[in-house]
Amino acid sequence: MMKATTLYDGKDHQWVIFGRDEDKSPNIIDTNQCLIKSRHETILLDPGGIELFASMLAAITDLVPVESVTHLFASHQDPDVISSLGLWDRTLKEATLYAPAIWEGFIRHFGCNTIKYAPVPDEGATIFVGGTELILVPAHYVHSSGNFSVYDPEAKILMSGDIGAAILSADAPMYVEDFSAHISKMKMFHQRWMPSNKAKNNWINRVRKLDIDMMVPQHGAIFKKDDVQRFLDWFEELEVGIAVTDEEQDTTEQALSA
Ligand SMILES: [Fe+2]
Ligand SMILES: [Fe+2]
Repeated sequence: MMKATTLYDGKDHQWVIFGRDEDKSPNIIDTNQCLIKSRHETILLDPGGIELFASMLAAITDLVPVESVTHLFASHQDPDVISSLGLWDRTLKEATLYAPAIWEGFIRHFGCNTIKYAPVPDEGATIFVGGTELILVPAHYVHSSGNFSVYDPEAKILMSGDIGAAILSADAPMYVEDFSAHISKMKMFHQRWMPSNKAKNNWINRVRKLDIDMMVPQHGAIFKKDDVQRFLDWFEELEVGIAVTDEEQDTTEQALSA
């Protein structure tokens, strides 16, 4: 069963996060799916992989009628983010998918006939769901080459996609409790999947200007206020793109001469 946790319960809109599915295969990375309900409309942020579509549909229809899902958002093209698209496409009668413009020709391979693809330009965009403003903040190359975070200025929540991701077990707490201990769960993910220090620092500079109460990554635990700042400081210092170094041996050449 997918666990549902309410993150924000405002006057006109709510944030709910789904994840920590104990029935999930151990070979698949655990993901957080976000739902924002605003008046009569609902958006799903990074609705997840094809394998969890059925449990996501069951979990969301406990909270909202499926017809209220008028919007989807994909931070980037990865299968853990949006490979469920083809099934949503057959389920939702009228919906719009906001996703990076440069990934349109790729994401459509998951199936996108009924759903309208709204390409988000590189500079980002502001969208409205049921009157709630959501700002799509560029996060290119952190890690995907076309990538966005979502900021809700009223709830003060930043959905950061793969940034801030940690590999945790299904019974792990929903929130970061001890930042220092959490570092070991995030370090390799950021160093290996994030290719560019320049891009990383560009995103940090954008995000430092936002007033953030909570940062919600697509994998792992949620960062609350002070831990958001601790994360940004830690991430700023971190060297990423470690799979390519100046000193490495050319394994291809070695293989050819063996
Ligand atoms: Fe990803
Ligand atoms: Fe991911």
